Amino acid sequence: MRRSTIRARVALALWIALSAWGCAAEPPAPDRPTWVDDVEPILRGNCFSCHGSTDHRGDGPRFDVYDPTAPAYQGLGPFLEITGAATPGMGGGYLMATKIAIWANRGPTGVALMPPPPATPLSVRDHDVLLKWSRQSPPERGTRASNAKPAVALRGMPRRAGANVEVELVVTDGDHDQVLGRLACGPATGIIRTTGTSKVVIEMAPAGMPLAASVSDGQDRTDNVMLGTCP
Ligand code: HEC
Repeated sequence: MRRSTIRARVALALWIALSAWGCAAEPPAPDRPTWVDDVEPILRGNCFSCHGSTDHRGDGPRFDVYDPTAPAYQGLGPFLEITGAATPGMGGGYLMATKIAIWANRGPTGVALMPPPPATPLSVRDHDVLLKWSRQSPPERGTRASNAKPAVALRGMPRRAGANVEVELVVTDGDHDQVLGRLACGPATGIIRTTGTSKVVIEMAPAGMPLAASVSDGQDRTDNVMLGTCP
């Protein structure tokens, strides 16, 4: 075999070995994980199918928002069905963050309570992120240097159904943050509960009033988007 061929083969073998090693080694958990950079992506991939806004199954609480009582949502809620991952005040502390870390822990038996089997348990590294995050006081949200503002638009014409008005909305967020908000028909309001397409019902909505939406992604708000007139 020519020397150059052998050298090429050795280089190829080395490259394969190194890339396999690169895949296996997860980056270590950061010392101070934040919700936006570290925690939310892990929960989105493993937990929000049951603990988020879509396909909200069983009795599991909804914690796809850091803290629905935070100032960024002032005047938009109340978002009563959302527990929040780090909402203070529940039992005096940051109870949910601690619960999230405990329930996702594999423990000595190697079996985690969450996500429920047969789902793949969190990696040791991902669990370490949740644990470090939950031990901060408070568990940090963090901010994005260049956050995409949430946007809201009509999907179809608003429809009157008796005393109520039904509105199909499309809510978008460039960073895939969960967006919450409020849709108003004059003094009557309805709650916007999720990013994506959803139907919002405004009860006892007076006809002929301006239809306006305000949305927040927990960091930035888009207020008073005019969407037409209530039918
Ligand atoms: C397949 C659906 C499903 C998935 C996926 C899932 N959960 Fe759950 N979870 C549930 C249900 C249902 C309950 C309520 C049942 C119970 O209390 O035993 C629950 C309960 C919990 C509770 C207890 C809440 C409380 O108020 O005491 C925590 C904490 C939790 N889940 C965390 C997680 C975490 C973290 C993940 C992702 C790593 C996850 N879950 C993934 C369905 C799910």
